[in-house]
Amino acid sequence: MATVLKNVALVGASGNVGKVVLPALLAANKFTVTVLRRASSSPSTFPDGVRVVDVDFSSVESLTAALAGQDAVVSTVGSAALKDEQKRLIDAAVAAGVKRFLPSEFGCDLTKELPAKLPVFAAKVEITRYLEDKAKTTPLTYTLVYSGPFFDWGLQYNFIFKSAGSKPVLYDGGNTVFSSSTLDAVAQAVVGVLLKPEETKNRAVRFQSVAISQRQLLDIAKEVAPERDWQPEVVKLDDLTKAADERLAKGLFDQETFTPYILRAINDERYEPKFEKLDNELLGIKQLTQEEVKAIVKKTLSD
Ligand SMILES: NC(=O)c1ccc[n+]([C@@H]2O[C@H](COP(=O)([O-])OP(=O)(O)OC[C@H]3O[C@@H](n4cnc5c(N)ncnc54)[C@H](OP(=O)(O)O)[C@@H]3O)[C@@H](O)[C@H]2O)c1
Repeated sequence: MATVLKNVALVGASGNVGKVVLPALLAANKFTVTVLRRASSSPSTFPDGVRVVDVDFSSVESLTAALAGQDAVVSTVGSAALKDEQKRLIDAAVAAGVKRFLPSEFGCDLTKELPAKLPVFAAKVEITRYLEDKAKTTPLTYTLVYSGPFFDWGLQYNFIFKSAGSKPVLYDGGNTVFSSSTLDAVAQAVVGVLLKPEETKNRAVRFQSVAISQRQLLDIAKEVAPERDWQPEVVKLDDLTKAADERLAKGLFDQETFTPYILRAINDERYEPKFEKLDNELLGIKQLTQEEVKAIVKKTLSD
């Protein structure tokens, strides 16, 4: 009989990704959604019809009880919970007889050799290995969701293109084209995976809203905000990652240390940031038109 993933547990529903994935799961009208929330989590409100279960992420027993009867787990946990918490979640998913696990990925394609070696992605790579092993030894299956950097979010937070101050930084000149996806596309991808369990079983899916470079973003910024005095600055990725390596050697495991490696993965062609083969069609994700890209850039430019 064909696999159907109906009961879906979402973990991290209050986060950047989770709060977009949750309404998309509900809007699909195909799933019964349960949110697993840390008992210690600051109170967040979730839409009517969503069952919320407070769990202890340090206890496999607590997680297993919460996952009873679930067909799929969608993990959108943040960086603090990527390794140990996700391992326990996977153990609990196996114990509860869950069929599919989507780990918290939503970024670079870590099946590629160079990005997988970056220290910032160590926990994600470890979790992938853990899932691959479980898929060989238990009935649990997995899907890795690779979106590239978020487009709207990445513009808003000056991450893929720094518009604040009108002095965008172009890494190594900014000519590398990378795949990038809106948060809505990421949420649609999760829905698409859950609706296509066979086609997405034990593999990675890759999709994009747009393939674009920092230079192209600068051209669009100049077009949609011609009144601003755009003064791009070229920064070498080698300089950034050298400083990050030094911080890492000192045992400093923080955002300042890790961000340069992510910038490297996005803006260095050798790291293959533009996906070759796309699953957009399978997952029901449309790419943006040039006009839509411009509209998003215009809306999310910071002053
Ligand atoms: N491609 C991109 O541009 C991009 C950008 C941002 C993030 N991401 C990726 O997307 C994924 C989700 O990131 P995010 O920014 O949405 O995360 P986030 O907002 O930092 O956190 C998501 C949720 O994780 C849960 N959480 C946090 N610490 C936890 C802990 N110690 N134990 C258990 N749960 C914990 C919390 O949910 P509760 O409070 O409900 O328990 C939190 O709301 C990550 O894999 C991240 O790398 C990608």
